[in-house]
Parts: sequence; structure tokens; C-alpha cells
Amino acid sequence: MTNPDVSNNDLNRFHILTVVGARPQFIKAAPINRAIQQSLTLRESIIHTGQHYDAGMSDVFFDELEIPKPVRRFDLGGGGHGRMTGRMLEALEDCMEELKPDAVLVYGDTNSTIAGALAAAKLHIPVLHVEAGLRSFNRKMPEEINRVMADHLSKLLFCPTRTAVLNLKNEGIETGAHLVGDVMADATLFAKSKSKALSKIVSKLGIENQPFALCTIHRAENSDDASRLDAIIDFVAEKAKQIQIVLPAHPRVIGRLKSYFKDNSAIRLIDPVGYFDMHALLAACEFVLTDSGGLQKEAYFHRKPCITLRDETEWVETIQAGWNRLWNDSSPARAISQIDDYGVGDSSGKIISIIENEFGL
Ligand code: UD1
Ligand code: UDP
Repeated sequence: MTNPDVSNNDLNRFHILTVVGARPQFIKAAPINRAIQQSLTLRESIIHTGQHYDAGMSDVFFDELEIPKPVRRFDLGGGGHGRMTGRMLEALEDCMEELKPDAVLVYGDTNSTIAGALAAAKLHIPVLHVEAGLRSFNRKMPEEINRVMADHLSKLLFCPTRTAVLNLKNEGIETGAHLVGDVMADATLFAKSKSKALSKIVSKLGIENQPFALCTIHRAENSDDASRLDAIIDFVAEKAKQIQIVLPAHPRVIGRLKSYFKDNSAIRLIDPVGYFDMHALLAACEFVLTDSGGLQKEAYFHRKPCITLRDETEWVETIQAGWNRLWNDSSPARAISQIDDYGVGDSSGKIISIIENEFGL
């Protein structure tokens, strides 16, 4: 991670402290950082909690997406939720007291999100939440707890969809909520253009002109429950009878997936891949099988059908528009239509304008 921290030069600017820690947050932070670099009034410092720490889960995204080097990088990943979040809270509070940001920016619904939001709110620093208002209404998901709490601590809530705005309204949050579209659409626009030229993954795997499905599995609700993981594995193995499956595996499940699929040559289990490789695989695949939030939308951005390996999704418009289907849904296929909510890659610019406007910059 050698990118210079170019957005951090003018100390008179409004100072945004961004807290990231997990793979999808690096991806979302990239287009916002680019938009901040275009702004004449903002500067940004990035803190990396170290929730994700393997090079293939972290550094690859900073390098490919040209994200500036974090001003602090901690090593606070692993362990139970309470311990991890507690360690982050302590470290982030110290950082915020030292750096005295004007606002703290958090993304999504991970333990790094709630730690950043809570540390800032307790210090009376305004919290800005990107990907606000999403709900699965399943409180067994750690992510649902994190996102509900982060939303209720936030001053500005950047909602990717109309449903997200409505979810917040139903919880009494209207002030500060803005519909801005999905920053993942911005990230995809950037990656699509680069991946064509830079990624060699399809030829490296020897699957040019071969049909394949792209699969990821990592959710705690799937991987922490042995019988549920068995059911998902069976479902994926059944699909592999019809089409080969490329499965870049998250470190939390790679060991178990290797032992499950060791005799199944139709399943190509590989290490996590970088963002450009992921988009090359998305562009080349026939369909997607995933329990990832981000990948459900990226499948749509590549106009590939998706089967979501969960019992509910926060991204309801992908289902309504006929591009996505829950794995246990046997209802007839819906007609496909376009999804307007996510925007055309202009979400980061909208977010920056709203911040500048809100703080009178
Ligand atoms: C976290 C988020 C989840 C998000 C996902 C993105 C929470 C509660 N969950 O889940 O919402 O969808 O990130 O990928 O914050 N590990 C490694 N190397 C790494 C990272 C993780 O080996 O670089 C292993 C460790 O054993 C770790 C386990 O994966 O204990 C789980 O990591 P953790 O960050 O707790 O949860 P994720 O499943 O990654
Ligand atoms: N991703 C990636 N390489 C991989 C797996 C996923 O670049 O090997 C990207 C994926 O394209 C998406 C993001 O990581 O943009 C999703 O992250 P993840 O599934 O870990 O988290 P979630 O979105 O479910 O929170």
C-alpha cells in the first residue's frame, strides 16, 4: 500500500475521517475518495481497522483502486463480535481525539462500521453513513444489528434505494436521509473499464469460451451453522452437475469448502481474487450464486442472473426486477426490468455535494 495520501494536503479543508476495515468497504471507499479529491473544500484521512488483513482481502483493493494509504492501520480483526468491536472502539476513540476530524464517514454494516459510528457519536463528531437504511429484518444477522445502530447514530444517511429511505422513515428517521443511489455502481463503472485490459483470470483458469457460474459463500448465518452450510453446499453441488462453478472462497470458509468439494472437479475453488479479476469473472460467467450483498448488485450491473444463497435480501429491487431470486424461492420467474434506484455511477458525486451543502462549505 504505497499510494500517497494526496487528498490530505490542505489542513484548512473540512476533514473527513473515513473508517474502513472489510473488503466491501475498501471497494466503496474508492469512488468516494476519488470524488473527495475533486472537491475544493474537503480532505480525507483513512483509518483501516484491520478487520480484514490478508493481502488478498485488503492490500489488493488499495493497490488496484488507488486508495490512499491509511493514516493508521490497526490489526484488530478476528475473535468474537464484542471483543473485536470493543478493541476497535478503544483504538478509534484515541485516533479521533488525536486527529479531531470534522466528520466521520462509515460504510455498510460491519463491526468496523459500528465501532467507527459509536466512537464518533460519543465524541459528538457528526457521523456520515454510506449505505444507510438497508434492512433484512433478521436480527440474527450481526450486520442487521450494526446497520440499525449505525443509522440511529448518523447525522447524514446516504441511502442507495427508495426502500432504504422508507425503512428509515418507518424507524422515525427522515432528517438527514438522502437517496443517492449505490456507490457500488460507481465502483463497477471504474472496474469494468480496467478489468478488460488488466485481468487475465479467465485465461489463467483456462475457461475461455467455457460456460461457468460464479459463486461466493461467506455469511456468518450460512458458514457458522453446520446444517445450513451442508444445505448450501448440496445446492451448489447440484448446480455443478449442470455447469462448472468458479468459487473464490473467503478465508472464513475456504478450509471447509476444500474438504467438502475435494472430489468435485466441477467446482474450481480458488483464493479470493482482486476486484478487476472479479469483474472479469462477472463479465464472463453465465450466472451468479452468492450470499454476498455486493455481488447481488454487481451481477445486475453485468446483467447476469443471480441466485442469492439466503432466505432474505436487503436488495429487494434485484428480486422485483427479475434479476435475482432467493435460493428457496420456487415461484415462477418474474419478467426482467431495469433497476433505476442504483443510479448510473453518479452516487459518490451526489454524496459529496450533500456533505458540502449540509456543512455550508
Ligand atoms: C465481515 C462482515 C460482513 C461482510 C464481510 C465481507 C461483520 C460482522 N461481518 O464478515 O458483514 O459481508 O466481512 O467480506 O463485520 N479472516 C481471515 N483473513 C482476513 C479476514 C478474515 O483469515 O483477511 C478470517 C478470520 O478467521 C476471521 C474470519 O475470517 O475470524 C471472519 O472474519 P470477520 O471479519 O469477523 O467476518 P467476515 O465473515 O469477514
Ligand atoms: N469480491 C472480490 N473478490 C472476491 C470476492 C468478492 O473482489 O474474491 C468483491 C465483490 O465483487 C464485491 C465485494 O467484494 O464487490 C463484496 O464483498 P463481500 O462479499 O466480502 O461482502 P458483502 O458485500 O457481502 O458485505
